[in-house]
Amino acid sequence: MPNRKKVMFVFGTRPEAIKMAPVVNECRKFPEFLETLVVVTGQHRQMLDQVLRIFKIEPDYDLGIMEANQTLTSIVTKTLTGVEEIILNERPDILLVQGDTSTAFAAGLSAFYYKVPLGHIEAGLRTFDKWQPYPEEINRKLLTSLADLHFPPTTISLEHLLAEKVSRETICLTGNTVIDALLDVAGRKYDLAQTGIKLTPGKKLILVTTHRRENWGGPLRGICSAVKTIAERFHDQVEVVLPVHKNPTVANVVNELLGSLPNVFLTEPLEYEPFIHLMKASYLVLTDSGGVQEEAPSLGKPVLVLRDKTERPEAVAAGTVKLVGANEELIVNETTKLLVDKSEYDKMQRAVNPYGDGRAASRTIYFLLKYFGSADSNPEEFNA
Ligand code: UD1
Ligand code: UDP
Repeated sequence: MPNRKKVMFVFGTRPEAIKMAPVVNECRKFPEFLETLVVVTGQHRQMLDQVLRIFKIEPDYDLGIMEANQTLTSIVTKTLTGVEEIILNERPDILLVQGDTSTAFAAGLSAFYYKVPLGHIEAGLRTFDKWQPYPEEINRKLLTSLADLHFPPTTISLEHLLAEKVSRETICLTGNTVIDALLDVAGRKYDLAQTGIKLTPGKKLILVTTHRRENWGGPLRGICSAVKTIAERFHDQVEVVLPVHKNPTVANVVNELLGSLPNVFLTEPLEYEPFIHLMKASYLVLTDSGGVQEEAPSLGKPVLVLRDKTERPEAVAAGTVKLVGANEELIVNETTKLLVDKSEYDKMQRAVNPYGDGRAASRTIYFLLKYFGSADSNPEEFNA
């Protein structure tokens, strides 16, 4: 098949894997035109492997770069060296990266060094603050400079790219592939008893996740103290589940401050399927995660974001997500309001889908087919 183009996917962390999986699986539907090559850096080891299992993806290459307490420099240098060798072996026609991790940035830089065209999925997100989130805001800005094709999820992210003079012909507004993954997994049958977490029927479940680098130290302690206060104040009404991120800097603080409360369940990172089904069962979500901010609105769950700034303003504008930062008092007050004031809760509890319609992967691959001359027209874009 002389015209078959080789598409090399590179990713390394849990959220990249979740958001890349639908695109990898879509790419595999066109074997006559596209050859799919999956490279994982293994920036995350256990948390990446969990996702690969759920979506049945077997990588062609695994760089296995993770070290305990790794530095940004270590991730970037090991990825650069590892991806270089694969590019030289495989001579891909395009390299695809997702989001804003150090894996994505370094793989994008490798592509540039070898003049391999680069496609950037989830392009154009911005807070316009170099330190929030750190280092992701700069990673994604650098990726915009490096990329040849840009796949923004929303109109706002598209506008950021246009403001940076990215040419419109190189952009396809797709929606976020996380919604493709979410709809797939949320539609599967799952019995929460399998998680081993013994939830009490009738109690309100608060789902919490936290890991952001800029929250390490004092802010993370503030978040944990707030969770503790809420759990104690509403001990007869509320249960908290907090799957603890594998990062020891996070895990040590969370275990120390929340490890001995009867209604706070600390768990290992959950597989994507149980996690989404817990989110479906929850009353409220507290998170500093990017992906969770996109998924919860789709499931109609109010979110309090444990950050001062977000690159995902769409659900804030829709009124289902509120920024509360890592300030202990504010987190406690806003959570209390949602627990005791039904009208406040009802205002935030609406299913909205500003981030996607489940067809982002299909648009992405169709745009690639057009780019390679195997389709006549561009796909219809996402209409938020
Ligand atoms: C990384 C990304 C961040 C993303 C987050 C998703 C960068 C700089 N950061 O942050 O953008 O939001 O992933 O979760 O790219 N660890 C394990 N097992 C795992 C995963 C992590 O043991 O499966 C531990 C290791 O000790 C590792 C540490 O966590 O060194 C930190 O991992 P790292 O990928 O550097 O940072 P994250 O905070 O996870
Ligand atoms: N997630 C998961 N198990 C968990 C916690 C989160 O599968 O225990 C999923 C979540 O649904 C979302 C993604 O992981 O799709 C978010 O990853 P993370 O918060 O680590 O990174 P971010 O999105 O902030 O980059």
